[in-house]
Amino acid sequence: MKVGVVGLGTMGAGIAQISVTAGHETVGREVELPLAERGRATIERYLGRAVEKERMTTGERDAAVARLTLTTELAALADCDLVVEAIVEELEAKRALFAELDAITRPDAVLATNTSALSVSEIAEATARPERVVGMHFFNPAPVLPLVEIVRGERSSDEAVEKAYAWAEHAGKRPVRCNDTPGFIVNRILIPLLNDCVRVLDEAGVTPADLDKAMTNGAGWPMGPCALVDLVGIDIHVHASQALHAKLGKDRVAPPERLLAMQAEGKLGRKTGEGFYTYD
Ligand SMILES: NC(=O)c1ccc[n+]([C@@H]2O[C@H](COP(=O)([O-])OP(=O)(O)OC[C@H]3O[C@@H](n4cnc5c(N)ncnc54)[C@H](O)[C@@H]3O)[C@@H](O)[C@H]2O)c1
Repeated sequence: MKVGVVGLGTMGAGIAQISVTAGHETVGREVELPLAERGRATIERYLGRAVEKERMTTGERDAAVARLTLTTELAALADCDLVVEAIVEELEAKRALFAELDAITRPDAVLATNTSALSVSEIAEATARPERVVGMHFFNPAPVLPLVEIVRGERSSDEAVEKAYAWAEHAGKRPVRCNDTPGFIVNRILIPLLNDCVRVLDEAGVTPADLDKAMTNGAGWPMGPCALVDLVGIDIHVHASQALHAKLGKDRVAPPERLLAMQAEGKLGRKTGEGFYTYD
């Protein structure tokens, strides 16, 4: 099976890594070659770590990296069986890309979007064959987190959904199927829940460390909510909350004032060295 990945940023590089590791010839498309090369370097670095940890031999790593070809030309994806899009989270950019992909790929190829918050159906409507468009929502870091939400758009065919599901399962992921509703499964639940956790800090006068202690010890969470928001990034979580709030209109989903203030102060969590906690 030949796979195309469009956009080799954080998610696209991870998805391409999954694909080449699973044995698929993979074409990665970026807007400029240096960006594509940056994506490949990220993959090489992660696979290098897998070799160090003896989860992969150097021969397997080299073979995996050799399965990846880089391009700036969309036409290079013409003979792919599956194309996964992981470009910027903007509806018009994705719709334009899917219209182009629809024109150049084989009619039986499955076209998947990794969107977190946009409607898969609205992206699919930009094509002449919306039945072959699905969502494949990976989680960051994609090579590490097993879940892939396989999203059925309003007009997705069973065949396209099952092809995407089977591909993810074969690649060692744990796919689940769901409808094209705002936030799909995990974000629909996790975003308002984490926002509630942040509001409880002020409502109940709890420190972040104590809130995390409460949820790990009282609810069996593997990681406390404040540590999780720091890991995700305050800016990413705020953006995701705003996108979901725009669709659902529920107060719980809107980002709490406390997070907006942290974002304004540049306290974005682990990546800036300060969020609810401080990091070296
Ligand atoms: N980062 C996350 O935690 C996460 C998790 C799940 C889903 N997503 C979704 O995945 C998608 C990508 O997010 P990301 O975090 O990897 O973004 P990113 O900014 O790291 O990467 C996007 C890449 O796409 C490239 N690009 C833009 N337009 C392109 C085009 N027309 N053709 C080829 N390449 C193009 C950019 O140069 C960039 O390298 C978004 O839809 C996002 O919502 C992100």
